[in-house]
Amino acid sequence: MQLSHRVTNITEGSSDGWDIFYKARQMISEGKSVTELTIGEHDTRTDPEILKAMNHAALSGHTGYAVVPGTQSLRETVAARIQKNTGAPTSYRNVLITPGGQSALFAAHIATNEPGDHALFIEPYYATYPGTIRSVGARPIAISTSAKHAFLPRKQDIIAAATGAKSLLINSPNNPTGAIYGSQTLHDIAQICQTHGLWLISDEVYDTQIWAGKHTSPRALPGMLERTLVIGSMSKSHAMTGSRVGWIVGPETAIDHLINLATHTTYGVAGFIQDAAEFALKQGAQLEEKIAAPFRRRRLLAQDILDTQSIVGLMPSQGGMYLMLDIRSTGLTGEEFADSLLDAHQIAVMPGESFGPCAAGHIRVAMTVSDNAFATALRSLVGHAESIKL
Ligand SMILES: Cc1ncc(COP(=O)(O)O)c(C=O)c1O
Repeated sequence: MQLSHRVTNITEGSSDGWDIFYKARQMISEGKSVTELTIGEHDTRTDPEILKAMNHAALSGHTGYAVVPGTQSLRETVAARIQKNTGAPTSYRNVLITPGGQSALFAAHIATNEPGDHALFIEPYYATYPGTIRSVGARPIAISTSAKHAFLPRKQDIIAAATGAKSLLINSPNNPTGAIYGSQTLHDIAQICQTHGLWLISDEVYDTQIWAGKHTSPRALPGMLERTLVIGSMSKSHAMTGSRVGWIVGPETAIDHLINLATHTTYGVAGFIQDAAEFALKQGAQLEEKIAAPFRRRRLLAQDILDTQSIVGLMPSQGGMYLMLDIRSTGLTGEEFADSLLDAHQIAVMPGESFGPCAAGHIRVAMTVSDNAFATALRSLVGHAESIKL
């Protein structure tokens, strides 16, 4: 039977750069010990107090269909948090609760793009971006950046792609580069969106993991409230990856449009998960900082280790749970390096090429194992680079 092209074309027949990840998982299933520095999954589990709130909500009966847009109290809690953190006026009517950030990315693109429309995104990118855009029938247009410019988008490159496009997807703090967009970059982006009539889809799922600089939500910039959809998630901020709960914040008309979509797709998020998310958000910044702390520590640990050598370069990391390392001096591609590192040292990292061609010759390291294991893995990684360069 014929299946739809829209779905078979999501990854255009490639593995989307996940070969190393699958190879590592295969090795683990064969009983080998692999240090996995691939995906953005915390090495701590969801806080027991959050689980207690979830359990209590479930046992109290919040297990039936939940209202599609999200519970009024979670929407209000998210709105209050966003208004407090960004200064932008936000009510519960500006919030749709979604089953995680990924489904919010899908919803934001299908809500703003017609089939065939150009949907822009910045490269290097979170691995699902082009596939998400293809899945809604739009055409993904990558705006390339370079290591020379710290992987930040340049104004002229965005302008060159903007004419006729419908949306621009940005991600700051950035996965995979760790960059945080500065005020000039965000003002340029805001101006281009207004001049070219673009929706801005701002993926801010790492907004609690800030190590240097300042995170600004572009929705709060002049003229942006009416054209920005912010993607948020409890996955990274509260180590709730498996709970699948996130949100879209945007203009009321867009949220109404998205509620209609949710009614015909997800039909909302489990009530007891929403109650747990509300409980977690109400713990405030202290809990968020506790969950971010290991990454803050390991970033400094990596700086200390990498400062003592010059073969592996560390891209300046300002936020998020990953480091981007430059291994071009070994003469290998990111894929070759990652593959040989897995074979030689049973350490799995993501090749830069998985995040787009402009990240070739780099690898992304997730800081998601204990401090000791992380330091040991980094030292082995440097030793491996040195042995190749000899
Ligand atoms: C940049 C970015 N956006 C969105 C997501 C999706 O996260 P979730 O669907 O778990 O909320 C991720 C997950 O790694 C990510 O790195």
